[in-house]
Amino acid sequence: MNKDNSTLSPLTISLHWLVGLTMIGIIVIGYYMVYWEVWSLYPIHKAIGVLAILIILPRVIWRLKKGFPAPASGYPKHEHHLSIIVHWLLLLGTLALPISGMLYSGFGGYGINIFGFELVTRNELNGEVIAFNETIYYSAKLSHSWIAYILTGALVLHIVGAIKHHVIDKDTTLKRMLGQPK
Ligand code: HEM
Ligand code: HEM
Repeated sequence: MNKDNSTLSPLTISLHWLVGLTMIGIIVIGYYMVYWEVWSLYPIHKAIGVLAILIILPRVIWRLKKGFPAPASGYPKHEHHLSIIVHWLLLLGTLALPISGMLYSGFGGYGINIFGFELVTRNELNGEVIAFNETIYYSAKLSHSWIAYILTGALVLHIVGAIKHHVIDKDTTLKRMLGQPK
């Protein structure tokens, strides 16, 4: 764990917001396209989801190398434990979602096309999509949705927690993540 709890490094702050806001965008597109059956958004969701790995991976490596930041102030033990669980869920969820999505679309035979670059070929016969591997396809499809629901739940707790620290506890938790001085 990082012992200096007064400030966060510029890399921690920029990676947090870069990955965080990208994740929120992809999640919103994901729910929207599934709920309203907007098929034209599927390739965009998939392409941005794969490209997001380029910023997700350095962030995960940086976090594993440096450890999570020490709490900004001394708050109750149960709150600290909850924040550790939520941070791990968020960190692992950012990796598990694009991976499960790629396994789902790839092994399902739907193909993965990154804005014109064919990463995985679509497997179609007489207009019907055929899975390369049914077992991986179904388990990855189920995992992708469930990981998304779990990550969304964790994110709601995360945002409520950040607001609570700022408004009720009036500590520097949110301010230091925004790069503001004490
Ligand atoms: C509006 C949205 C968000 C707000 C207001 C917010 C706020 C914060 C704050 C204040 C912290 C510092 C917590 C502390 O010092 O203990 C933090 C840390 C963290 N946030 Fe967020 N966050 C948001 C979105 C996200 C998203 C979308 C993710 C990932 C899916 C995420 C993942 C993390 C992680 C893993 C940490 C632990 C510290 C680190 O790894 O840099 N956050 N966030
Ligand atoms: C950071 C990356 C990603 C996030 C946050 C994300 C998030 C989501 C969410 C929230 C949904 C809606 C879930 C539901 O309502 O069941 C969804 C659906 C979907 N995602 Fe992703 N996703 C990501 C990456 C990917 C990737 C890389 C692919 C494929 C290459 C992919 C393929 C799909 C597909 C095909 C669906 C539709 C599921 C269905 O129709 O049941 N996703 N995603």
